[in-house]
Amino acid sequence: TVYLLVAVLLAYLLGSVPFAVVVSRLLGLRDPRSFGSGNPGATNVLRSGSKLAAALTLLLDAAKGWLPVALVGWFGGRWGLWDGAQAAVGLAAFAGHLWPIFIRFKGGKGVATALGVLLGLSPWLGLAVALTWVIALALSRMSSLSSMVAAVLAPVYYLLGGGAAWPYDRMVLLAIGVMAVLLLYRHRANMARLLAGQEPRIGQSKTAAA
Ligand code: G3P
Repeated sequence: TVYLLVAVLLAYLLGSVPFAVVVSRLLGLRDPRSFGSGNPGATNVLRSGSKLAAALTLLLDAAKGWLPVALVGWFGGRWGLWDGAQAAVGLAAFAGHLWPIFIRFKGGKGVATALGVLLGLSPWLGLAVALTWVIALALSRMSSLSSMVAAVLAPVYYLLGGGAAWPYDRMVLLAIGVMAVLLLYRHRANMARLLAGQEPRIGQSKTAAA
C-alpha cells in the first residue's frame, strides 16, 4: 500500500504539470488562461494561432496520463502493486490535470490526459476513443462536442470490448466512468454554448469565456 500511495502521489504530481501553460510560455505565446475559453488545454492553445504549440500540448498532456499507467503495467508486479493500481494512477494523473497543485488547482477539462490514460490501460480502447474524437471533430469542427461524444462512448467501448474478462475490470471500468463524468462536468460552459448555438468551431476565433 505504501508503494501504491507513492505511485498515486507521483501520478497526481505529473498530471498537475499544465503543459498548455508550460508549452505556451516556452514558445513565447500568451498564457492560454487569458484568452478564448480560458481553458489550459490544447484546443484553447490552438486559438493562439500556433498549431505546433497545440500539438505539443495535446501530446504532452496525453503522455502524462499514459506514462504512469504504462509504468505500473510494466513494473507494477515488481513493486508489489495490485493490478487495479493502473486504474488508480490513471485517475490520479487525470485528477492532477483537473486540479493541478502547481497552478492553484485550476486545471483543464481532461480530454488529452484521459485519452493518454485510456491508451495506457488498453491501446485498442484508446485508439477507438481517439478515432471517435477525430471523426466527431471532422463532422462538427467542435472540439468540445467531439470530446463529450468520445467520453460518453469510452465506457461503452470498454464494456463491448470484453472488458469483463480482465482481472480487476471493475476498477478500470470505475476509472473510465469517473473520468467520463468529470470530463462532462468540466464541459458545462461548452454545453451551454452548444445549446445556445454559440460554441465556436475550430478555426474560428472565440470571444466567450468559459
Ligand atoms: O480540450 C477541451 C475541449 O474539449 C474544449 O476546449 O477551450 O473549447 O473549452 P475549449
